[in-house]
Amino acid sequence: MFETLKEQPADKILALMQTFREDPREGKIDLGVGVYKDASGNTPIMRAVKAAEKQLWETETTKAYTGLAGDPAFADAMIALVLGDAVPRANVAAVATPGGTGAVRQGFDMVRMANPSAKIFVSNPTWPNHLSILKHMGMTMVPYRYFDEDSRGVDFDGMMADLAQAGPGDIVLVHGCCHNPTGANLNMTEWQAVVDLLNKTGATPMVDIAYQGFGDGLDEDAAATRLIASSVPETIIAASCSKNFGIYRERTGLLMAVSQNSAAHKLNQGTLAYLNRQNYSFPPDHGARLVTMVLTDDALRMDWMAELEEVRNSMLGLRDLLASELQRASGSDRFGFIAQHRGMFSRLGASTDKVDKLREDHAIYLVGDSRLNIAGLNKETVPILAKAIVEVGI
Ligand code: LMR
Repeated sequence: MFETLKEQPADKILALMQTFREDPREGKIDLGVGVYKDASGNTPIMRAVKAAEKQLWETETTKAYTGLAGDPAFADAMIALVLGDAVPRANVAAVATPGGTGAVRQGFDMVRMANPSAKIFVSNPTWPNHLSILKHMGMTMVPYRYFDEDSRGVDFDGMMADLAQAGPGDIVLVHGCCHNPTGANLNMTEWQAVVDLLNKTGATPMVDIAYQGFGDGLDEDAAATRLIASSVPETIIAASCSKNFGIYRERTGLLMAVSQNSAAHKLNQGTLAYLNRQNYSFPPDHGARLVTMVLTDDALRMDWMAELEEVRNSMLGLRDLLASELQRASGSDRFGFIAQHRGMFSRLGASTDKVDKLREDHAIYLVGDSRLNIAGLNKETVPILAKAIVEVGI
């Protein structure tokens, strides 16, 4: 029977991670997968997370099942982190999921149950796994214009024109902050226009928020998600704790279904719990418990926020440094967009050939679409990258 299986395309980001590991060259630079690295190239366990883990080891008395939705305290803490007081808690149904990817997948599942013929409007480009999951699920995707190849900013007029085609029963998938893969983001005036358009067309937004705290700050990065969730009838939100808590391998995320009509809450909550049961039964608990402990203990929370701020500022510093090194190396301002972009990534807007040349001639690894992970750099590697970028003719 297995001989009927077809070879599946490798995930480009994960395949690159493997090629990098196998590259024997000294001084190779990994700017591929979206994992934070400090100046010495390590992905540290955050101080507050480590402290919570120690406490948990000392105090946890059972590993018995939680509920199908996960520990309700985790949902409460994460809803407060993502949504603040933008919507009443009673209007938010939520389940813990295995990572942000689990939340995304489960969110699409919920959409498919509610409307099997829903069209999912996705930014062009978007995180490749959005497309891969939607394809796997047999759902209809409609790309909307997003990245302006000339300015390396958002093609806002194109985006609005394309989103005007979405209707009731369709989903508009947006990145809450720190757009992956481009690093180009909307400002709040533009988000307000998107909200007005959604209210006009009747399409439902789905927000993927995987980098809260990596752009302009915890509240600033959640502002668009809060605006959307408080302004339209229904919103789906997939939140990840992988990056901002640095707990990638613990697989910790939360899927939320917000409805202005609180009478819908029971049905939404039941549907999400049902989906958990069908897909993996109880969600993983360890990472969720650590996040809950960090968010609900004043000292741990303060320490986590301080460390997250260090991480964010170090990425901003690297952005500024790279932009100015590139200005020096190229003698032009054409890379100024790198300092404007936010989050872990920037898309250079270079051809695959040039990305290949960076890898082959300089042992510098970018994703094929010319996305680079800013956090993969440090003060020593920034000038090396700037020189290589100019040398390959980007
Ligand atoms: C990325 O975009 O590199 C991360 O979100 C990791 C992943 O799973 O692709």
